[in-house]
Amino acid sequence: MTPRPPADSAELISAADLERRIVELAAAIAPSFDDEPPVVVAVLEGARTFAEQLCALLPGRPRPFSIRASSYGAGTVSTGKVSIDGGEEIPVRAQRLLLVEDIVDTGRTLLALREHFTALGAADIATVTLLSKPARRVVSVPLDHVGFEIADRFVVGFGMDLDGQYRDLPMIRTLPGTQVSSVRE
Ligand code: IMP
Ligand code: MG
Repeated sequence: MTPRPPADSAELISAADLERRIVELAAAIAPSFDDEPPVVVAVLEGARTFAEQLCALLPGRPRPFSIRASSYGAGTVSTGKVSIDGGEEIPVRAQRLLLVEDIVDTGRTLLALREHFTALGAADIATVTLLSKPARRVVSVPLDHVGFEIADRFVVGFGMDLDGQYRDLPMIRTLPGTQVSSVRE
């Protein structure tokens, strides 16, 4: 069954554009797999779909490890507090990591994860995010690869949810009441 989009939501990024851009991201990341491949870590839940599709295109088809981080409570307003769960099995000490995120909003989640893995002795941390909302940044965090820069709109689909809904949509949509606006690669 095709998942049902939120009523009156608008498509921001089509499934075809997502697929095309993920191929480009994989090509840009591939050289970092030339020698010792990095340990790939997907930030759940939102980045699961993106990480699976990206890893299928990376040299050696790495299997992503996962870690759970959440900064959002219910709804579309960040609580500002990041909690990190799981990931104890990830080899981190002296390893190069590639963190895979769905969307960087305030930046707090990615910053908290960088601090977490740095404290555990990671040798290097690279980041790839499918989406970034630069206008919303509260803390500065380095991003190595960005799929699309989008304006300050809450989005769902392709792994991203609103209170657990709409993750299965194959495209990215903005919620009703928010205007469709620019997308930049
Ligand atoms: P940050 O810590 O504020 O950067 O928030 C990052 C996390 O919040 C992302 O990994 C998402 O899980 C979630 N998030 C931020 N913006 C959106 C959105 O527009 N839709 C769905 N989830 C979002
Ligand atoms: Mg996320």
